Amino acid sequence: MTHIDLSKPVEVPSWLKIAARPTRIGSGELERQWQEIGEEVTEAMLEVLPTGKYTLGPHLKAFEDEFAAYCECKYAVGVASGTAALHLALEACEIGSGDEVITVANTYVATALAVTYTGATPVFVDVDPRTYNMTAELVAEKITPRTKAVIPVHLYGQPVDMDPLLELAREHNLWVVEDASHAHGARYKDRRVGSLGDIGCFSLYPSKNLGAYGDGGIITTNNREIYEKLLILRYVGQRIKFVHEVIGFQERLDELQAAALSVKLRYLDGWNERRRRWAALYDEILAEAPVVRPYVAPYAYHVYYSYAILVEADERDDLMNFLADHDVGSFAMYPTPVPLLPCYADLGYRPEDIPIAASYADRVVNLPMFPHLREDEVRTAAETVCEFYRQKKS
Ligand SMILES: Cc1ncc(COP(=O)(O)O)c(C=O)c1O
Repeated sequence: MTHIDLSKPVEVPSWLKIAARPTRIGSGELERQWQEIGEEVTEAMLEVLPTGKYTLGPHLKAFEDEFAAYCECKYAVGVASGTAALHLALEACEIGSGDEVITVANTYVATALAVTYTGATPVFVDVDPRTYNMTAELVAEKITPRTKAVIPVHLYGQPVDMDPLLELAREHNLWVVEDASHAHGARYKDRRVGSLGDIGCFSLYPSKNLGAYGDGGIITTNNREIYEKLLILRYVGQRIKFVHEVIGFQERLDELQAAALSVKLRYLDGWNERRRRWAALYDEILAEAPVVRPYVAPYAYHVYYSYAILVEADERDDLMNFLADHDVGSFAMYPTPVPLLPCYADLGYRPEDIPIAASYADRVVNLPMFPHLREDEVRTAAETVCEFYRQKKS
């Protein structure tokens, strides 16, 4: 049972008030995307509407096959959200009460919620100080006889260093469930994310590198048994209509979304290349500013779901306000490490347990990043950051 205390006030953090200020640069992402592909998406959706078949039909199957091939995997299962993807993946691994699943402190809450939904306990590791991703060494310290799985999160589109993690997981007989919600199309060495562990989970939230027109998610795997279980789990536990074998879930991706996603998948590589171009331009211009720019590991083909810099914690609000004054949007993602969120207070984590993630949360500033930005906008955003520091010095 969940008790929600509505009488308890919730304070809006200062960075969020600043991030909510209307700005020109950084807004209009999905509207501009529609300008490029709206006609094709409309046509694809209009193909579905007269058919009367809106769930579990041919468009979903086609998108699943296309996405599986794109991820160089055998199977894909469309689901209702990224959260559902993670939850069902863990259910398919038969993880539940009494089990522990190791994940990372610096992620979206859904990564951990999926573990909690199964009845298992999320165990959080800190992050590497350069990539801000989990590492095999950090995970190794947290393995107990109850550990059943590990969920690496490819933060902002940079893959986790997977080979050492996969070796560790093999040694300890752990499932590896990738949270690739930021990383559609990213590569680790020459392999696509989503194909690296046992199961790959992707959010298809509209603003993701590949996004639906509403909520959506998809799961990839090379494991036939897991695939078959996922088909049952996402459709209320049935293989044959009205024969509900297990307590399943109602978590399907619908036909309209799938038809649109098939169109958008054809654009994904080009859009990721544009993100990489904007990241390179940010890197170049921000080289003169006293900020930490993203480190890209040699094994990574980074797809920049977001471009984040680190600044001093006590200057973050000032910088974000300065950016907003100059019509540049910014954000802080994620502003609180998941184990320090009120919903996980019972687990008893302190900032000292995850020092790098805790400091990251206070220092991160996400700058405008999406494929349909214009070069002048990226230049203005980066130069405004530089100008903030020039004015601060003088
Ligand atoms: C890392 C990560 N995991 C999981 C999710 C959950 O995805 P959804 O919002 O589609 O449920 C998100 C969504 O933002 C995410 O960023």
